[in-house]
Amino acid sequence: MKTALITGANKSIGFEAARQLLQNGYYVYLGSRDLQRGQQAVDQLQTEGLSQVEPIQIDVADSASVAAARETLGQKTKVLDVLINNAGILGDPSQPPLTSSVSMIKEVFETNVFGVIAVTQAFIDLLRESPEPRIVNVTSGLGSLTLHNDPSWKYYPVKGAAYQPSKAALNAYTIMLAYELRDTPFKVNAVDPGYTATDFNHHSGPGTVSDAAARLVKAAMLGPDGPTSQFFSDDNAPETGISPW
Ligand SMILES: NC(=O)c1ccc[n+]([C@@H]2O[C@H](COP(=O)([O-])OP(=O)(O)OC[C@H]3O[C@@H](n4cnc5c(N)ncnc54)[C@H](OP(=O)(O)O)[C@@H]3O)[C@@H](O)[C@H]2O)c1
Repeated sequence: MKTALITGANKSIGFEAARQLLQNGYYVYLGSRDLQRGQQAVDQLQTEGLSQVEPIQIDVADSASVAAARETLGQKTKVLDVLINNAGILGDPSQPPLTSSVSMIKEVFETNVFGVIAVTQAFIDLLRESPEPRIVNVTSGLGSLTLHNDPSWKYYPVKGAAYQPSKAALNAYTIMLAYELRDTPFKVNAVDPGYTATDFNHHSGPGTVSDAAARLVKAAMLGPDGPTSQFFSDDNAPETGISPW
């Protein structure tokens, strides 16, 4: 049975990704920074008959928590097939480049960028044991630098000094990581779940968590001939599904 770790999976898109991987026969380690919330999410899945799941405490912005999660997971499995770096935060609702506090910007980067790097580095040895390891970095369409310079883009005015740059940095890290893991069975991709109704945006997004999670799960289940080092975004590129960086 293949194994997966999803960060920030106690609710919303991460939770739905856990449900869909379970439906596809994976064993899921459901990451949650609050173990009680993680256990509640697991209980919910188990009432649906999805039993191959357990919670794991992991706050991606806390190095001790990441190290403890690695230690715990290493006692349970020697192989990790899928890592979905899903945990993410928005920061302040308004993020003007000239007046946003540097501390707020750092906070967003701690989770969205450095958290992903820390988790990836901590779990890479378990992923290397998989014959088909997959890393899915959950980005945003708003991380596209190319489109942010295109005045005809529908999200052109949606600028911000923290969230958008954090996802652009995450995209850059994805490219660098995929390059380091070239010539291996790894597939490393950045995936935009699309503008989705969750707590993240006070449920303003038009998309469903089901569709959003399906985009992540598709990248998590890529076959050996699947792409690596891509920025998947159906919102940014409805025809090809591949966004400019
Ligand atoms: N929703 C959208 O429209 C949209 C669009 C594009 C991209 N995304 C991306 O999709 C991902 C999931 O978003 P969502 O809409 O599902 O957001 P959400 O409803 O706010 O859920 C975020 C999840 O991440 C967790 N989290 C936050 N900081 C964490 C940390 N330091 N360590 C571990 N877990 C942490 C949260 O835990 P708590 O419950 O403890 O807070 C929660 O489980 C994010 O990376 C987001 O940037 C979302």
